[in-house]
Amino acid sequence: MNTLPKDFLWGGALAAHQFEGGWNQDGKGPSVIDVLTAGAHGVPRELTEKVEPDKFYPNHEAIDFYNRYKEDVALFAEMGLKCLRTSIGWTRIFPKGDEAEPNEAGLKFYDDLFDELLKHGIEPVITLSHFEMPLHLAREFGGFRSREVVRHFVRFAEVCFNRYKDKVKYWMTFNEINNKMDTDNPLFLWTNSGVTVKEGENAREVMYQAGHHELIASALAVSKGKEINPEFQIGAMVSHVPIYPYTSNPSDVMLAEELMRERYFFPDVHVRGYYPNYVLKEFEREGYNIVFEDGDEEILRNGTVDYLGFSYYMSTTVKSDKETEQDRNMTNGGLAQSVENPYIKASDWGWSIDPTGLRYTLNRFYDRYQIPLFIVENGFGAVDTVEEDGSIHDPQRIDYLRSHIEELMKAVNYDGVDLLGYTPWGIIDIVSFTTGEMKKRYGMIHVDRDNEGNGSMKRSKKDSFEWYKQVIASNGEKL
Ligand code: BG6
Repeated sequence: MNTLPKDFLWGGALAAHQFEGGWNQDGKGPSVIDVLTAGAHGVPRELTEKVEPDKFYPNHEAIDFYNRYKEDVALFAEMGLKCLRTSIGWTRIFPKGDEAEPNEAGLKFYDDLFDELLKHGIEPVITLSHFEMPLHLAREFGGFRSREVVRHFVRFAEVCFNRYKDKVKYWMTFNEINNKMDTDNPLFLWTNSGVTVKEGENAREVMYQAGHHELIASALAVSKGKEINPEFQIGAMVSHVPIYPYTSNPSDVMLAEELMRERYFFPDVHVRGYYPNYVLKEFEREGYNIVFEDGDEEILRNGTVDYLGFSYYMSTTVKSDKETEQDRNMTNGGLAQSVENPYIKASDWGWSIDPTGLRYTLNRFYDRYQIPLFIVENGFGAVDTVEEDGSIHDPQRIDYLRSHIEELMKAVNYDGVDLLGYTPWGIIDIVSFTTGEMKKRYGMIHVDRDNEGNGSMKRSKKDSFEWYKQVIASNGEKL
């Protein structure tokens, strides 16, 4: 039978900084994202020292959800969402990050938002840190380079757990904690960890130290959360781009296997509660001095997660020996060894479209960890056209989502994977994380806003809106 459990969490996923706007309303402080300008495909976002008046920062207003949330939640309810994954803007609660007391106006906003969601039968699924570290913690302490920031994160987590303990059951600590394994792109270390690498430093060593602090912060938060409400389900969240060998040549196979450790290291620690040997060997081999404090091993052991959330957009393929010019220029998926996969097409932003990779991922994760999984991001970023009559036809998005849902159903029904839910990314159009653009749209609800910040912010339904509504209503039977 091709059915999903009755309580399968169909939803949508968002992140505070990408859709709320209101970046300095009601006492909110600046976060690491508030000093990033807009970029484009192939053009990196600029990181400015502070907010400069003559620059455009797309996340400052985003799509103004902060002031329009009732209207938007009503649309989510009309679509039939069972859950909404979003994050709590850390700087709404602690504007600088190291205050003794939280900002009541910020806490109240999320009380109101969660009440509004629950009123419509939509369960909030909450990420504590989705690229929204207070700028002050990054500038004053060097972000998660410093052990000090662990304390501030755990305090933030504790305040949120206490305040929303009766409204939120599903939590995640850090969004895509592992994307900073790609140290060639400074965006990831900055937004994940508030870290910039200084000249002469080894970026990978810095990344591992910050990562260690985040793993400790996550584990402490999990333990604290369980004390506050033992019913909480607290998960990890990783970005997953599976790596295929280009050929059956054993050196391609072994290369892919070794590189998969880039993907597994963080979830291995989150789920198992200890460092895997392959990373300890790397520290030894490379002479990395990663500082562990007394008691860290116990903290990690006690703070393992209940489920593994992950994003899945694409796969990548690697070859031990790149031959063609085209191959040499390709670094898709953050890997220098990546080459084009002849069996897979890509989006306009170069992201490969590989639904089978989702089933493959679900199986590899489930075999490895044997805990529930949650697909908390998946989607298709594309340019949409508004027709003269106002309609928006997005068959490519529907095709993308349909083919991925088909694969997740196989994973559940055929392979027996324990899957909690599916929350496609950007259920409403929002600011792109990597490029800061609006034109890279994922939503099923269109927002009239362009890359330069022009537009009425009017919301309208795309074809995918009605399509997803019937998918949810039929619990995945009508695709
Ligand atoms: C994930 C992030 O990396 O991918 C999201 O968790 C992000 O924040 C999403 O928006 C899609 O990336 P982009 O760059 O297309 O917005």
